[in-house]
Amino acid sequence: MGAATAHELAQRGYHVLAGVRSSADAEAIREEQVEPVILDITIPEQIDALVARIEADAQGRKLRALVNNAGIAVNAPVETLPLEQWRRQFDVNLFGHIAMTQALLPFLHHSGGRVVNISSVGGKVAMPTYGAYAGAKFALEAVSDALRRELAPHGVQVVVVEPGGVQTSMTGHGIERAKAFVQEMSPIQRRRYGSLMQAIINQATSFTTRGVTAEAAAVVIADATTAPKPRIRYTIGRDAAVMTRLTRLLPDALLDRVSAANLRPHFPKTQPD
Ligand SMILES: NC(=O)c1ccc[n+]([C@@H]2O[C@H](COP(=O)([O-])OP(=O)(O)OC[C@H]3O[C@@H](n4cnc5c(N)ncnc54)[C@H](OP(=O)(O)O)[C@@H]3O)[C@@H](O)[C@H]2O)c1
Repeated sequence: MGAATAHELAQRGYHVLAGVRSSADAEAIREEQVEPVILDITIPEQIDALVARIEADAQGRKLRALVNNAGIAVNAPVETLPLEQWRRQFDVNLFGHIAMTQALLPFLHHSGGRVVNISSVGGKVAMPTYGAYAGAKFALEAVSDALRRELAPHGVQVVVVEPGGVQTSMTGHGIERAKAFVQEMSPIQRRRYGSLMQAIINQATSFTTRGVTAEAAAVVIADATTAPKPRIRYTIGRDAAVMTRLTRLLPDALLDRVSAANLRPHFPKTQPD
């Protein structure tokens, strides 16, 4: 989604500094208006290097927007996900974005620019096994609300984008990690949660074919980044539009039933070993 957004913004005439973590990805993403920068948002030295790059801009370009898009997802029940993996998800999905925001806000104050945080429908509803992912995304939503209210008097806008299913490598990676995770579970954990994990894997597999394309998602993110009067929140895909609305309308007990009904067709017919 990040690569497609960089391309979309370049097509609209913007110069894009695109964070990537490997030189192979840098070469893959490079194009006339897309300048790759090696950036792991959990490594302070790499954030410092990006700040230095912006400060030294030979062409005196102003930083107009920060799009916080990096994300990882590991599905597992709350009881079983090791704490270090909880911390890793929060490091990338929340603290990394806060670090980037703190580092680049001085430029955005200067330009009257914008922060665009890529959240998720998981920032509004926490399905089973999405505890760590949704926990970090709920927190990102809350931080975005606080930030928007802090920055409004200073002319810096804060926009949240909430995608539903998008066809990217995230789902595939998530499915592989979830499968590996089931293998690492103790026999009692597998008896308790094996069927649920299989249902989540099956549901995620069906998302990979039903989700919108990364290019379609990029159009929404680019609109959120460049619209003269942006909305506070954008959803991507019909599933996100419906689910985010339902979370506002339905009581929790009814949302539990909707969540269970969505997952039910994906449960295996027999209990996994
Ligand atoms: N796909 C969906 O269905 C969906 C739905 C809702 C929300 N989202 C959100 O949309 C955003 C983009 O996800 P995507 O679907 O495009 O997933 P993706 O294809 O897996 O891309 C995620 C990107 O984040 C990068 N990343 C991971 N850890 C990083 C770190 N520490 N520092 C810098 N970059 C890091 C990855 O880099 P590497 O390639 O180097 O690992 C990858 O390029 C995420 O915030 C995600 O939570 C996605």
